Amino acid sequence: KWRCFETREQMVDELAEACCEALMRGIRKRGTASWAVSGGSTPKPLFDAMSQAEIDWENIQVALVDERWVDLGHPRSNEAFMRAALQKGHAAEAMYIGMKTPHATPFEAVEAVNARYAQVKQPFDSVLLGLGSDGHTASFFPDAEGLDAALDINGDKTCVALRAKRSDVTGDEVDRMSISASAIAKAPHVVLMITGDEKKAVLERALAVDTHLPIAKLAEHVTITVYWAP
Ligand code: 6PG
Repeated sequence: KWRCFETREQMVDELAEACCEALMRGIRKRGTASWAVSGGSTPKPLFDAMSQAEIDWENIQVALVDERWVDLGHPRSNEAFMRAALQKGHAAEAMYIGMKTPHATPFEAVEAVNARYAQVKQPFDSVLLGLGSDGHTASFFPDAEGLDAALDINGDKTCVALRAKRSDVTGDEVDRMSISASAIAKAPHVVLMITGDEKKAVLERALAVDTHLPIAKLAEHVTITVYWAP
């Protein structure tokens, strides 16, 4: 399902409203709502808008969709980005959950991270995905080690470890932790936020042609609403 906008401002306004609604729906149903969020530069204006939203943040858990296996002090830590971009204004009241542990690799940390995420309300009330120019979403990188298990729609783990191939997108930091496709598939509200013609072309090609890109595999099982602006 595509929602295309003329400006990024319009897209952010509508998407913020949709995320707020999904989270408030979760609070009405279960008392607490959970929001899984991605990193990257694209969500920044959405996080700015959400931090100003007057909703029941004290009843909301914000957890990462995925993380590169670097410490919080690293400039490319998704948790550091999430906290800097979102944990302010009204949204400072929410509970924030990251993925990084002191384990050397994500493969050794899977159990600990799943124990942490067992405290996050599931299914997630809303999941915010991004898209890389290589067709990855969450940490589902093409040809990554652990990809089949991560994309297994019947998998029973919320969090999974992956090792991507070194690329322009991953750089040297190829070790990753991600929520699984099965966890995403259970969420009632899953959105993919993208901007620019390049990402649109990557997504259209992945969905139209048999590219086997991870985003296409995920879209076979999950209804994703795509928010796009130039
Ligand atoms: C990561 C990044 C990555 C990002 C996409 C899109 O964890 O490596 O968060 O997954 O979301 O590559 O990035 P941009 O939004 O900056 O284009």
